[in-house]
Amino acid sequence: MPGTHEGLEGIKATSTRLSLVDGTAGRLILAGYDVEAIAPRAKFEEMAHLLWYGRLPMGHELETLKRDLASRRRLPKPTSTLLRDAAKASTPIIDAVRMAVATLSLGRIEAPEEDTRTLLAAFPTIVGEYWHLINAEEPVEPRADLSHAEYCLYQIFGCLPEEIDPERTRGLETYLNTVCDHGLNASTFAARVIVSTHSDLVSAVTGAVGALKGPLHGGAPGPALDMVGEISTADRAEQVILAKLERGERLMGFGHRVYRTRDPRADVLAAAAEKFYATSGDKDFYALARQVEKTALRLLSKHKPGRHLDTNVEFYTALLLNGLGFPKELFTPIFAIARVLGWTAHCLEQLRNGRLIRPDAEYIGPVDLTFSSVPTASPLN
Ligand code: CMC
Repeated sequence: MPGTHEGLEGIKATSTRLSLVDGTAGRLILAGYDVEAIAPRAKFEEMAHLLWYGRLPMGHELETLKRDLASRRRLPKPTSTLLRDAAKASTPIIDAVRMAVATLSLGRIEAPEEDTRTLLAAFPTIVGEYWHLINAEEPVEPRADLSHAEYCLYQIFGCLPEEIDPERTRGLETYLNTVCDHGLNASTFAARVIVSTHSDLVSAVTGAVGALKGPLHGGAPGPALDMVGEISTADRAEQVILAKLERGERLMGFGHRVYRTRDPRADVLAAAAEKFYATSGDKDFYALARQVEKTALRLLSKHKPGRHLDTNVEFYTALLLNGLGFPKELFTPIFAIARVLGWTAHCLEQLRNGRLIRPDAEYIGPVDLTFSSVPTASPLN
């Protein structure tokens, strides 16, 4: 459409110090650090300090932040009640998460810096409580003696602290760090639009969860895993993928709005998944997935020549989270547990430096229509 930028592709709507997504070079920088360098090594709380305060924590700062986040894990009673009601109505998990997040501001008005911490700390409890409830189990008690990544494993699998495997924690933490922020993606943009009106962070994060759940954004890894399952043996990959492309379907876990080359996050997660599957996962399934990926890339380049469709983060999200034991229904909620860090950091940045986000639309409807009311029969006639 001349004069418009459908999907705002290529438009720089703001400036940020949080992440640089270089779609041509296939490079992602998180507040100065290449994703490959920081994600497999950092603690998630270090990433939080980096994105919220612009630098890694020093001295006692990490311990102080960890303690503060851990102290905010218990949900307000109305939030837990809402989760119980949502479970009774078999509400999809990500919708229950969205509704629960909205209740976090019940009865309180907090400064944005307080809300960032409360939101980040509450997400694993919301997801964990709901997961137990829809599985007809009682939620586990929040506890404050675990790191954020350990707490996610405790909340969802209910394992005792001594049963939490350090390799599994590292795998999850690498995932959380890798996807915690990613430029002006749809959900982050939604959050920034909301706080740009000087609305609050709970409202912004509620809207962001709504944007995340769509299959073109954070809802892709479940279907990506389904595709590998549907193919089931390597010799069927060609036939199944070809049929999908001929029906005009999109292959989940491939393609990206910004990356015109391989998504660097896919490589970080592939390395983490490879480590995990080599020691404790289903090696045959992993080998099948690699075969599916190869076939998909070959067929995509043939069917969509010149489109540069490559593997995106969601394909390896599916493999890694599956390897770590997460059921596919939890893939998008776990993505939200990570991305709430980016959402809140962007909200703080928007509140500090941003202007009201209010773009224009090109009007393409009719003009100069003449209005006349439709005559209605009077009951007296
Ligand atoms: N499978 C098949 N064809 C595809 C795919 C795909 N995965 N992705 C794009 N195409 C085709 C699309 O049909 C179009 O073809 P044509 O020009 O012939 O109509 C062409 O490539 C360009 O597509 P587009 O819609 O302009 O691309 P976009 O920039 O709007 O879409 C995308 C980006 C991620 C929505 C898209 O690649 C897609 O739907 N991928 C599958 C879903 C997925 O994996 N989503 C997770 C994205 S990564 C997580 C995140 O950062 O949020």
